[in-house]
Amino acid sequence: MVSEYEIKKQICDIGKRIYNRGMVAANDGNISVKISDNEFLCTPTGVSKGFMTPEYICKVDAEGKVIQANPGFKPSSEIKMHMRVYKKRPDVNSVVHAHPSYATAFAIAGIPLTQPIMPEAVIALGCVPIAPYGTPSTEEIPDAVEKYLQHFDAVLLENHGALSYSDSLLNAYHKMESLEFYAELLYKANQLGGPKELSKNQVERLYEIRRQFGLKGKHPADVCLNAKDGKASCHGCGGSCKSAGGDISSDVISAITRKVIEQLGK
Ligand code: 13P
Repeated sequence: MVSEYEIKKQICDIGKRIYNRGMVAANDGNISVKISDNEFLCTPTGVSKGFMTPEYICKVDAEGKVIQANPGFKPSSEIKMHMRVYKKRPDVNSVVHAHPSYATAFAIAGIPLTQPIMPEAVIALGCVPIAPYGTPSTEEIPDAVEKYLQHFDAVLLENHGALSYSDSLLNAYHKMESLEFYAELLYKANQLGGPKELSKNQVERLYEIRRQFGLKGKHPADVCLNAKDGKASCHGCGGSCKSAGGDISSDVISAITRKVIEQLGK
């Protein structure tokens, strides 16, 4: 079994990767790892996540209350957001919050990532919604994020950043990398005149691959009624995700509406 100290070192390594890739500025971002049902390791508030050592890492309970923290360190101000993910997603063992620039730019512009443009993003993430804005450190962000947790492994936070979570620290971090890469490619393709999207049939085949591989985590393809009908495309599913439990479709519809208005204005 991996020791607690080893996990603390891994959190510091992922902090370095997030910082060195420019996914956070200054003291931004936070990381947590579940070590038992009532014990979680998390980054401290107000430090650069690129320069942490294991002594920085705090331990909290399922309520986010401190179990252990070295003098001078307090758990992340966003610990409530992390705890909501663990509460609603028992399969999740790690949560990563960052402000990667392309993904955050989409979150600021209010544009969810709904266009199927490359196989890896379709398989790993599907489409990525935007949870409505909430004041950092309050219950507003956990409340805003909650309805997306059963359908997605990554969510944009309006005017703020991004959140990803998975069965391991590395996988949660990789979700963040994939999300940022997807946002970067979409942004750049838009500069080049707009992406040529994968066809519905191509997307369906990618979703089928995901199902065949039995990939862990949640994915919009698994809840989309199109998928259940054997028409596995959450992208542009026309709102069938709505009946799967949330009003995810409103993000999709508003993005499409915005795009149509943009085209009409050209
Ligand atoms: P903490 O340093 O308190 O984790 O906050 C960083 C951050 O990014 C808040 O959104």
